[in-house]
Amino acid sequence: MATAPTGAAKPLIATMAKTRSQVRFLLGPEPVSVALDDPTTTLLEYLRVSAALTGTKEGCAEGDCGACTVLLGELNKGRLRYTPANACILLLGMVDGKQVITVEHASHPEPHPVQRAMVDCDASQCGFCTPGFVMSLIGLQVTQAGTGVESPPSREAIDQALAGNLCRCTGYGPIIVAAQRACGQPLSDDWKRMATRAETMLLEWDADPRALRTSGTAGSFETPRTSTTLSQALQRQPAATLVAGATDVGLWITKHTRAVADIVHIGDIDALKQIHNNDTGLHIGAAVLLADLADVLGTWSPDIARVLSRFGGVQVRSRGTVGGNIANGSPIGDLAPLLIALNAQLSISGPSDPRTLALENFFLRYGEQDLQAGEFIDSILVPACDLDGFSCWKVSKRFDQDISAVLGAFNLVFENASVREARICFGGMAGLPQRASACESALLGQPFNRDTLAAAKIALATDFEPLSDMRATAHYRQRVASNLLERYFLNRMTGEILPELYPSTRPSTLRHA
Ligand code: FAD
Ligand code: FES
Ligand code: FES
Repeated sequence: MATAPTGAAKPLIATMAKTRSQVRFLLGPEPVSVALDDPTTTLLEYLRVSAALTGTKEGCAEGDCGACTVLLGELNKGRLRYTPANACILLLGMVDGKQVITVEHASHPEPHPVQRAMVDCDASQCGFCTPGFVMSLIGLQVTQAGTGVESPPSREAIDQALAGNLCRCTGYGPIIVAAQRACGQPLSDDWKRMATRAETMLLEWDADPRALRTSGTAGSFETPRTSTTLSQALQRQPAATLVAGATDVGLWITKHTRAVADIVHIGDIDALKQIHNNDTGLHIGAAVLLADLADVLGTWSPDIARVLSRFGGVQVRSRGTVGGNIANGSPIGDLAPLLIALNAQLSISGPSDPRTLALENFFLRYGEQDLQAGEFIDSILVPACDLDGFSCWKVSKRFDQDISAVLGAFNLVFENASVREARICFGGMAGLPQRASACESALLGQPFNRDTLAAAKIALATDFEPLSDMRATAHYRQRVASNLLERYFLNRMTGEILPELYPSTRPSTLRHA
């Protein structure tokens, strides 16, 4: 008789949680359960093909145009929160335990005030982008209503809400007027009743200990709810693809047609979604959303707030996570340079003992990070520090929803008018986010003056050999890096307020003719 295997497998089976095999969510007000044969099925495919809800459009299929925007309702600290999401890069399994509201639901039983305003203000022409704009603006109305202020949202809030939506024919003026007209209105009683019922249902589902684990002919999809069950899932399936917000992985599927068979989704693990401050610094769970990070880290410095407000559009920031941005290892990712300048540390968990390492050591070379099979980023610590000497700037071709050509982050500590510490990190200048070590050396111990700036600029020119690509030429990148260093110096040496990198010329109000 064969003996039972001993070792790691036994406790794994003993502690394996009970699971559910179908994706369960609210489609508008209705609960639905769906078998997931292919884990890469997107919400957009499901809506248009299976649910025949064709109001949600496919424009770019890569999260850029916002034509596929839906509202996603999910629990946040025990309360229902609605945020806009791009259905084209959201995997169907990821909406488990959530509510999906499409333009069809918003227009039932009668057109939503945002839709009426879009019609009254002539804010639609061919109409292809319109459902996406409508859903983003309803998202803005819901957010605005949550603040208790019943006045039209500011021009800045409207720009922020619409940064992830593109219209190629109407022009944005009438859409902005429609937003000003509709988004300050209180939520209707129908909407409030619907949201109350949804919250009750989501809380009931949340209390169900059975996590989602599907298995179909094209692969599996699993949503562990704790770090322990995540580790177990990765032990069982070391080759599985880890997905947090899918704002990168979604594009592997829709654009790069990469084969992704088994998916472990970490976006619903409460322990990884915590963000808190204590004496040691800011502790950021890997699955903290970029939007939630902005609410906390953005208060540390106006420069950080600016960079985070230009990270994709609101659809991307409401899904994308801190851990995903770091783990993807992109040399033009926005978080790594500024977190490296802030001396951030990573906590990594996996089959062996948890380990910590300096974020700057996580990036080994282009496309290679210090992450072994079965490991995942657990959290990021930004040590408490004095931010007097901190600045960062993102330079990209477009203000909104664009990837950096160069991002420079500067963190200097001064003592007796000399530079005591220097951490300067750039994105977009090398195959990985990288410190400007020659420039830093040229600064250390030096007085903060024009001679030091000149020497630091010469040293900076030796730090990087950037590439030319569609975002910028190598020459442009070198020039921008050097100019950002100069900007940092001039700001501090002269105390002069330098002109904004991106001055706003937008009128605060527009009028419908
Ligand atoms: P996912 O797509 O879920 O995962 C990305 C990678 O990280 C995968 O390899 C995944 O396996 C891995 N991963 C995720 N979490 C973990 C973890 N905890 N441990 C280990 N591995 C993990 N990026 C910018 O930097 N700046 C921008 O302005 C910007 N704009 C964008 C605009 C659009 C329209 C889109 C579609 C993307 C944009 N991005 C931008 C890229 C993307 O949004 C970010 O990189 C985002 O932070 C990724 O997070 P995610 O949770 O969606 O990652
Ligand atoms: Fe363009 Fe989804 S179709 S963002
Ligand atoms: Fe045609 Fe916006 S109305 S793309």
